Amino acid sequence: MIWSFITFLIRKLDPEIAHQLTLKALKFGIHPRLSFLKIPTKINNLTFSNVLGIAAGFDKNAQVIDKIHSLNFGFTEVGTITPLGQYGNPKPRVFRLEKDQAIINRNGFNNLGMDEAKKKLEQYRKIHPVGSDFVLGINIGPNKDSHDRFKDYEILSQNLSQFGDYIAINISSPNTPNLRDFHESDLLGKVIKAVKKGIANSKLNSSGIPIFLKIAPDISFDNLETIINKAVKLKITGLIISNTTIDRSKNLKSKNSKEIGGLSGVPLFNKSTSLLSMSNKIIKNNSYKLYLIAAGGVCDAKTAYVKILCGANLVQLYSSMTFEGPLIGDKIIKGLLGLMKRDNLEKIDDIRGIADNPEDAMQMALNGMNFKKNNKK
Ligand SMILES: Cc1cc2nc3c(=O)[nH]c(=O)nc-3n(C[C@H](O)[C@H](O)[C@H](O)COP(=O)(O)O)c2cc1C
Repeated sequence: MIWSFITFLIRKLDPEIAHQLTLKALKFGIHPRLSFLKIPTKINNLTFSNVLGIAAGFDKNAQVIDKIHSLNFGFTEVGTITPLGQYGNPKPRVFRLEKDQAIINRNGFNNLGMDEAKKKLEQYRKIHPVGSDFVLGINIGPNKDSHDRFKDYEILSQNLSQFGDYIAINISSPNTPNLRDFHESDLLGKVIKAVKKGIANSKLNSSGIPIFLKIAPDISFDNLETIINKAVKLKITGLIISNTTIDRSKNLKSKNSKEIGGLSGVPLFNKSTSLLSMSNKIIKNNSYKLYLIAAGGVCDAKTAYVKILCGANLVQLYSSMTFEGPLIGDKIIKGLLGLMKRDNLEKIDDIRGIADNPEDAMQMALNGMNFKKNNKK
């Protein structure tokens, strides 16, 4: 109750100030005290204590990693970190769409840069060595004014991969001009090779570190196929689907809906889940090994369940934390445990990717699916 009230008050503030306050509160340990609940899963050698994580952009400068763990999340993704610190776009640049449970941001990779992030990551790793049960992803991207964006990716992975459990290559922010050009096959290949080169030259030669590619929701089916083929060929671990959208549905009700930037939250759910489901199909049809992390509009246990039914190994959220407050992780994990019980699941992995499309998945999430009887035999 008290946390809902605090969240309600914080939401009266300018979104960026509210975010800074939230980070400060977390840093000072002002957050709910929760007992940790497990829904474990594995990706290669990485063990996740639960399937729900915080998406990139929430903790851009790696300041509150351990606090996110205490909010019942199984992993977090810090960043996007760029080589040099940068201010980003002029303010205001984050807008709440209250009536739509959505956010538009055009931050433009505002962050303190690689060296500052490195200090924080070093501090964190002194207490929580790589391989601890809370998984840490490091999301990297180029500086806006960089003359060589490939080199930026290389420098970042060379310097930061030793601290991460996985690296996320961000090619999908709509707020860095032309970044999404890296969805094109040849350019994508060059980005991935640059990241791999950086990792190979890193201090601890963290060569086995999983690499994820974070993609935009605004791409064609053909482009998705090309990306998946390239990712598999270059031995990428998985995709993060998706970043924010530049699309604006006509149904948006909030007055801020025409602001320029990337839209996230509830209105992104359908689009990002369709892309996830299509990826699941391509991967299955080709018997590829490619893991999927889903982001986009997850706001309760049912939406998280739908993502898993559509192929997600892991689920991330950001916007719903803004609207629901610090209990959202706990609420979703408890809800997921309830759905697993209803459907007789021993492991969450048992339902991953079994839905043909998002509509079927939603029906399964809403109505249940006597899983043992129908699918296990
Ligand atoms: C204010 C804000 C800042 C974000 N910054 C980043 C970022 O720096 N890097 C990134 O990869 N994604 C960033 N994102 C996108 C999220 O990581 C996520 O992919 C997207 O918001 C969809 O999830 P959601 O609907 O749960 O918010 C940001 C999102 C928001 C709302």
